[in-house]
Amino acid sequence: MEALPNQMQIARLAAGGCFSRALALAARLGIADIVNDGHLHFHDIAEHTGSDPDVMRRLLQVLAIGGVVERDQDGAFAMTGPFTALRSDHPRSMRNFSILMAEIYDDAFGGLSHTVRTGDSGFRQVFGVPLYAYLERDAETARIFDGAMSELTRPVAAALAERHDFSSAHTVVDVGGGDGTLLAGILAEHPHLTGVCVDRPSVCERAATALRTSVDHQVARRIALRPADIFEDVPEGGDRYLLKNVLHDWSPETCGRLLTSIGRAMRRTTEGRDPGVAAPRLLVLESLLDQDSDAPHVLFQMVMCGKDTGGYGEGDLRLILRRSGFTPVLVERLAGGHHLFECVQDLDRHS
Ligand SMILES: C[S@@+](CC[C@H](N)C(=O)[O-])C[C@H]1O[C@@H](n2cnc3c(N)ncnc32)[C@H](O)[C@@H]1O
Repeated sequence: MEALPNQMQIARLAAGGCFSRALALAARLGIADIVNDGHLHFHDIAEHTGSDPDVMRRLLQVLAIGGVVERDQDGAFAMTGPFTALRSDHPRSMRNFSILMAEIYDDAFGGLSHTVRTGDSGFRQVFGVPLYAYLERDAETARIFDGAMSELTRPVAAALAERHDFSSAHTVVDVGGGDGTLLAGILAEHPHLTGVCVDRPSVCERAATALRTSVDHQVARRIALRPADIFEDVPEGGDRYLLKNVLHDWSPETCGRLLTSIGRAMRRTTEGRDPGVAAPRLLVLESLLDQDSDAPHVLFQMVMCGKDTGGYGEGDLRLILRRSGFTPVLVERLAGGHHLFECVQDLDRHS
């Protein structure tokens, strides 16, 4: 009996895991790198990836249904336009992001019912520890995570480097800066700047390799890596403090602790300078996500980190910033969708 349209719709959504896992495996096996701009027979793809040819043909069939690859009359496969970004050398590569989403984050959705019942993190229920503690014990996933963050950050770095006036700044401190991609993108466009990337020690170790191998030498040598717990120890001396995609991981109360830590460093910086020198500014970059958002992230974020982190809208972030002694003097949407909150510190406030 032929399936009815509504049955097809349900079946397609219910089989989502099959498509996303196939996509992640294609990314892991480097199929887009192997096929590149050409067409390749499934036998050749199987040989390059050490796979069973018949099963590889079926994997490619599933990927074709998902629109990832297309098959020509001779049975050879090519990547479709959008999915060329699965290539590792693509300037807008999403290879690591695909693996992160469709593997570890998908596993965390095994804890969805726990999140729905209790509001607590499904990730923690499944893995026994919160995300960053998990990444400390799984180096391979940590590498994928850093790579995914870097992929998502590249366009934001370009947009911020173009939009924000860095002319009077000397030092930019990126708090929770991952592998340094945001700083590298800004410093490449503003050769007078130096940068300090602050993150967990294990992230800084991997960042040293990433900067050495994939960033222009002239840019990489202007970036210092600073391993630290950002809730306790943010370096002084910056003219701009960046905080990109960090607040959404935490509850409003924990965001307050982090902002207090940054505020302390900024206050000391100001106090140590001549009165004529401009006070440092905090630039917060976030994808806004309010309760009415139509993005799946509205649930996703809770499964990863818990109910208190269900995404922040503009009003929430303004409140969180103000409570920690920061006043947004400019809020704008950058090309690509991130919002920039440029903030000054309220220096009359006691912290
Ligand atoms: C969601 S990622 C964002 C990374 C980067 N800012 C970006 O947008 O690509 C959050 C970052 O915060 C870092 N982080 C989390 N807790 C931290 C802590 N206690 N001390 C230092 N860094 C921390 C993580 O290691 C991670 O690199």
